[in-house]
Amino acid sequence: MKILLLGAAGQLGRCVQDALRDGPDQLVPLTRHDLDLTDLDQLRAAFDQHRPDMVINAAAYNAVDLAETEAEPAHRVNAQGPGRLAELCLHTDTDLIHFSTDYVFDGQPLTGPAPYKEQAAPHPLSVYGASKLAGEQVVLASACRVTMIRTSWLFSEYGTNFVKTMLRLANAAEPIQVVTDQRGCPTYAGDLAQVVKRLVAWDPSVAGPRPTGLFHYAGNSVLSWYDFAQAIVASAIAHGLLRQRPTLVPIKAAEFQSPALRPAYSALDSSLLTQQLGVPASDWQRALLLVLARLKADGR
Ligand SMILES: NC(=O)c1ccc[n+]([C@@H]2O[C@H](COP(=O)([O-])OP(=O)(O)OC[C@H]3O[C@@H](n4cnc5c(N)ncnc54)[C@H](OP(=O)(O)O)[C@@H]3O)[C@@H](O)[C@H]2O)c1
Repeated sequence: MKILLLGAAGQLGRCVQDALRDGPDQLVPLTRHDLDLTDLDQLRAAFDQHRPDMVINAAAYNAVDLAETEAEPAHRVNAQGPGRLAELCLHTDTDLIHFSTDYVFDGQPLTGPAPYKEQAAPHPLSVYGASKLAGEQVVLASACRVTMIRTSWLFSEYGTNFVKTMLRLANAAEPIQVVTDQRGCPTYAGDLAQVVKRLVAWDPSVAGPRPTGLFHYAGNSVLSWYDFAQAIVASAIAHGLLRQRPTLVPIKAAEFQSPALRPAYSALDSSLLTQQLGVPASDWQRALLLVLARLKADGR
């Protein structure tokens, strides 16, 4: 099978490359430099040149705060581009794997503080969340064959993420303010890449049609950014990655004054996808140790 990977230089894109590297499929990794998702001519040319069987879209506009003042670029990358991609997939009979976010929710699940299931009504609080929701809607409306996975709080050894930011701040030896009243599920991008690998390797002759539609995939427990920071610091000290224990200062989200509103509770229930694929929800604690070990080995 020939697979185009868009957003190949992002953290999920790099984890997907790692996961599929030694597999039987031909993976064509395309960075933003190789292919701008917002450029329809470039998209058409890539389909003409490569004639893929599947496209994995790991490209996104992810600057949650910046999006508040850059709504147009956020919508172009997160909604318009995926919409055109889905149309091309539909007309060329190409499978699509696409990703969305827990930030499509407002943090007030009607069922009380229980992880959001796929059928929960979205109501984004931020421009970023609205742009990703618009992307979901336009892709699903296209009727292409898509597996759409909402995920949350991604971290990995690659790119910029909360784990790497905490390590950088901790080594700067200043007190670090961390939010206590936003809770969600940290997710290892490498575990999400294993989900992608399972979907790629899906054999319809054995298992029936590949799962399509909307799914959630995230970490196996719910915690606050402050809890997550504590876990990162404790593990980093155990790994000898920090010279000293930083002071973590618990604060409320309102004190942080970030431009974008974020949901107070955005835990995702992964059970539908994990049952269909036979994979566990992301074991973020095990993955955190793995990521720290890799960062240490790389001298980062
Ligand atoms: N990160 C999270 O915590 C998180 C949480 C929930 C959901 N998600 C979703 O998970 C998916 C993967 O996220 P990630 O963390 O891997 O993101 P990431 O590290 O920011 O990677 C996104 C990639 O997309 C590329 N890109 C941006 N605009 C593009 C364009 N117009 N054309 C082609 N490529 C473009 C970026 O290139 P440049 O680097 O050159 O800009 C970057 O390499 C996204 O759908 C995201 O919305 C992420």
